[in-house]
Amino acid sequence: MYTLGINDGHNSSATIFYNGKLLCAISEERLSRKKNEYGFPVKAINYCLKAANIKKNKIDYVAVGTKNLPPRYLCVKRNTTFTVNDYIKEQNEYWFPKICKRENPHYLKIFKYKIQKKKDIFYDMKKIKNEDDYNGMRESRKQGISKFLKISKEKIFFYDHHRCHANYGLYSKGNLTKKTIVVTVDGGGDGCNGSIWIYNKNKFSQVYKTNICNIGRMYRYATLSLGFKPSEHEYKVMGLAGYGLKNNKHYEYAKKIYEDTLDVKGIEFFYKFKPKDNYFYFKNKLKNQRFDTISYAIQYNTERLLCKWFKNIYAKYKIGDFIFSGGVAENIKASKKILSLNGIKSLFVPPGPGDESISIGAAYILINDKLKIQKKHISSMLNPYVGSSYKKNDLNFIFKSKKIRVKKVNNKSVAKILNQGIPIARFSTNKSEFGPRALGNRSIIASPKNAQVIHHINESIKIRDFWMPFAPSIISTDFKKLLINKKNSFHNFMTTSLDSTEFAKKNIPGALHPFDRTSRPHIVYKKYNKDYFNLILEFKKISGVGCLLNTSFNVHGEPIVNSPKDAIKTLLKTNLKYLLIDNFLISKK
Ligand SMILES: [Fe+2]
Repeated sequence: MYTLGINDGHNSSATIFYNGKLLCAISEERLSRKKNEYGFPVKAINYCLKAANIKKNKIDYVAVGTKNLPPRYLCVKRNTTFTVNDYIKEQNEYWFPKICKRENPHYLKIFKYKIQKKKDIFYDMKKIKNEDDYNGMRESRKQGISKFLKISKEKIFFYDHHRCHANYGLYSKGNLTKKTIVVTVDGGGDGCNGSIWIYNKNKFSQVYKTNICNIGRMYRYATLSLGFKPSEHEYKVMGLAGYGLKNNKHYEYAKKIYEDTLDVKGIEFFYKFKPKDNYFYFKNKLKNQRFDTISYAIQYNTERLLCKWFKNIYAKYKIGDFIFSGGVAENIKASKKILSLNGIKSLFVPPGPGDESISIGAAYILINDKLKIQKKHISSMLNPYVGSSYKKNDLNFIFKSKKIRVKKVNNKSVAKILNQGIPIARFSTNKSEFGPRALGNRSIIASPKNAQVIHHINESIKIRDFWMPFAPSIISTDFKKLLINKKNSFHNFMTTSLDSTEFAKKNIPGALHPFDRTSRPHIVYKKYNKDYFNLILEFKKISGVGCLLNTSFNVHGEPIVNSPKDAIKTLLKTNLKYLLIDNFLISKK
């Protein structure tokens, strides 16, 4: 049975399974080259079919994540096309009149100039009565998918957004022998923004759901207030939070503004005082505060609410193993605090816990419903390398190019270059990693021994914000030497963070947060990525550390490179000195 999973909201993606085996999962943005791509993922679906080596007519079922997709956002492809100014305009001209003045503004009139061409929207919008017509939108999605795949509408199933987040979290961890709690938190989907689920002996059920867990929404609008792009640059605010000045009157004031609103009692959220909205209220209250104070306060608020909630969930159910999914699970600082709580034994955050994995979550639900196969026979995401791969033939063009020099090398010579402090972009023709974090196969790697390497990378390619830390890829054999993993939890995908050892503080400063010396690790296991493991091992022989600094291989603002052609293009347009494709070292002529 072939199952195709689709996310056609923001960060759209597709996946394909044969029975319980995951054959491919990929985000549309990697192929369309537009960040946070919105809408029907044509290219990702075609890529999945190619990877599975089947024609459209072989697909048995289609699982679509999210029942209610807002037509207004699809028409303008909001997350792909919006600038910070557009988001501010949205607040001023749409949300403020709607929420605070009880008016009825017309979203698509306000953003008329953003409405996409018919062919880019893909779905037929004629059936949709108005910009809030979710049922019409769903019918149009069903029809569009049915027509494109030449599959009967009866074989297309839509699943609740948080059910998809929860199932993605659950199945991605693989075989579970113990009772496990799955928690989902995000900006919102299908009228929900937080839920709790319990897994016990193959039974998985929801025990709580709410639409007032506004943690993500508050964070999103604090991000906008600070002049960053919401639903994308929250991690920059999280990075800034580390620099906030604690224990001064401004911080105490900002903290209290948040504390006086949303809170947790038992396993439920409630409002002490409910502001009319999540943007203007906090923006006005905090208008005289510095950027670092606001960052600190919103991060504090996130950690306060999540820790209280997780603590109470543990107190109620006495289950210590947790899985955390949904966009808010990308907040690694909050996850670190949650993991340190008494009673919590483990916290698993899967790769790409945001909406990019809604397609996989939907497919997991369908497979379980139709096939009733045991969980252990369904592919997990412990191996996150499930994306695009290339054959030797796909590299022929690099030998013909007059713009580059190609040299065959071994790990030893690559390790030597890295040890000289020169960053290298690494591209593997093996499958790309799923999610927003590069895990070695589409990465820029460098020696973490000298913190100055950060400037080198910024000059070469990244132009990152100066306060943002870099993260390490650490071979599993050196994990304990570098990081303190008291609870023996999973830290494989850069979705969690840990304190570092004294050895790490001395030897890998380039891959730690420069202020608090924590680390967001990618632990590399030989069984999942043998080539990358062996390269780091070779680097260890020369440098003494089984670790490389690892950052995603992309130009600032672009999606991570996907193909060898993208990789060469990026080499040519940046100051990168070297690109390694498998064992070919490439430099500009
Ligand atoms: Fe979501």
